[in-house]
Amino acid sequence: MAGNQYDCNRNARNPHDIRRMSSDFRARRSGVRYNQRLRVLFIGDIFGSPGRETVRRHLPALLPRYDLVIANGENAAGGFGLTGELAEELFELGVGVITTGNHVWDRKELAAYYRDLPEPAARVLRPANFPPGLPGAGLYQGRTRTGEAYAVLNLQGRVFLPAIDCPFRKADELLQTLPGECHTVVVDFHAEATSEKQAMGWYLDGRVSGVLGTHTHVPTADERILPKGTAFQTDVGMSGPYAGIIGCRPEDVLPRFLTARVGRLNPARDDLRLCGAELETDANGRATAIRRIELKHPGSG
Ligand SMILES: [Fe+2]
Ligand SMILES: [Fe+2]
Repeated sequence: MAGNQYDCNRNARNPHDIRRMSSDFRARRSGVRYNQRLRVLFIGDIFGSPGRETVRRHLPALLPRYDLVIANGENAAGGFGLTGELAEELFELGVGVITTGNHVWDRKELAAYYRDLPEPAARVLRPANFPPGLPGAGLYQGRTRTGEAYAVLNLQGRVFLPAIDCPFRKADELLQTLPGECHTVVVDFHAEATSEKQAMGWYLDGRVSGVLGTHTHVPTADERILPKGTAFQTDVGMSGPYAGIIGCRPEDVLPRFLTARVGRLNPARDDLRLCGAELETDANGRATAIRRIELKHPGSG
């Protein structure tokens, strides 16, 4: 899979310019050639080794159905962070682009991956609206096996999360950098508040193929196609152990609420599920279908 890294800082234009000039479906139709229909699988936050096990178990059979697989890997390393080694493991399984979120820097090994192996690491995104100067980028532009251009944009919300740059204006800024041939654009909006996530869906409606929420680890039953053709789901859910509290063992989490004492959190083990969504886009990048995915893991509780 070939592609270029789009460094959000290097490509920044006027950050206050929020015009929608060249980034809606109609404008992008003037690109050099038309894309074919694309089928995209988006896998929600992969939580620890149980989450990686769900991907290993299910993805080989799913892979032939899709042109592109995107997965959020912010919790892949024991529930907290991601390493280059684990990113490579996900790439080997067929994941094309890895997105992340607020846990992206939990493991220091990821910064070394960006430094030492910049080409594969370009396919590991961190939220684009993080402060300037950090490793990595929040936008990746690539091509599918059949040569169709696509882009993946990773943004993080600001409600009940650290104060960072405006994700809405950052989306405007980066979408303007995409070439006309790039019709299919998928956004991972990593955010806590359902209102902020739905706001992003409506804000980008007609300008991207899909806005898919991550971070809460709880799938929402609101998948739909918005009026101008953008597929949306508030949160696609976690891929990992559901017999716990957002991925962790109840016996580790409950003391935090009962005594306010913070102890080590370990991944739960049972009721493994791969959760996500699948999208289909037409030749203009408009979503024609979105389906929720929840694949249970036989024998896992
Ligand atoms: Fe997460
Ligand atoms: Fe998160």
